[in-house]
Amino acid sequence: MKISEVIAVYKRKGLPEREALILIAKYLRKSKEYILAHDDMECPDEVLKLLDKRLSGYPLQYILGEVEFYGRTFYISEGVLIPRWETEGLVELAIKYIKEYNLKNLIDIGLGSGIIAVTLALETGVFIYGTDVSKKALEVARKNADRYGIKCDFRLGAFADPFVEIWDNIEMVVSNPPYVRSDVKLQKELSYEPPEALFAGPEGLDFYKEFFKKYKIDGKIVLMEIGHDQGNALRELTGGKIIKDLAGKDRYLVVNRKE
Ligand SMILES: C[S@@+](CC[C@H](N)C(=O)[O-])C[C@H]1O[C@@H](n2cnc3c(N)ncnc32)[C@H](O)[C@@H]1O
Repeated sequence: MKISEVIAVYKRKGLPEREALILIAKYLRKSKEYILAHDDMECPDEVLKLLDKRLSGYPLQYILGEVEFYGRTFYISEGVLIPRWETEGLVELAIKYIKEYNLKNLIDIGLGSGIIAVTLALETGVFIYGTDVSKKALEVARKNADRYGIKCDFRLGAFADPFVEIWDNIEMVVSNPPYVRSDVKLQKELSYEPPEALFAGPEGLDFYKEFFKKYKIDGKIVLMEIGHDQGNALRELTGGKIIKDLAGKDRYLVVNRKE
């Protein structure tokens, strides 16, 4: 089949033209513009397999192995959370505090692909400590850190446990932790993402409860992404303030113990 026919057939099956074009261009290692200008070429069978995979609900970013975040391209792979737009708001808040307090370091707990850590290092020059309980996530985060050549120390482990010996010197904690309630049924597309990156007990609060119980945060700023219905519980738990995202929903927790 010609590329133009393939795009039309898959559009009828429900695959947006844009996505078909992105996948064809990726497979043939050409630009989308090139593909559009040469859409009378024969389409290789391998491409049809990719299009079928996408049509079955498998995330586009996992097929491409890349994802956009805060204007940059990052590696991503199955087993590691695909970044969400809300997290750009967490990054913006962090940049504001880093500049206001002239911070020199921070820890990102739950690195995932490392998008928060790498973006903050590039935007502000801050040194990043980072942890994740997932080996796969740590691998991808390190790959992204290498891609952009940032100054960092990423270690496998829970919370800030791998950095206990320097905990007192860490100035800020940034985290987009798991916060989905364990009884929530995910849409098909989310079911490909790692459960340990999403679920956090019956109220989705396990990560926050354990972190604030375990760590003394005197002298530090803690910024965390939260579920839209967790603001009240977290205000009560931490005494911090809640900030809304661009959709007007409670989304970020700020506990400032520098003041
Ligand atoms: C919601 S994902 C966020 C990933 C990435 N920071 C982002 O915003 O796209 C949460 C990440 O935290 C990790 N994680 C879960 N519990 C953790 C813990 N107790 N300590 C460190 N990392 C944890 C998961 O493996 C996952 O990579």
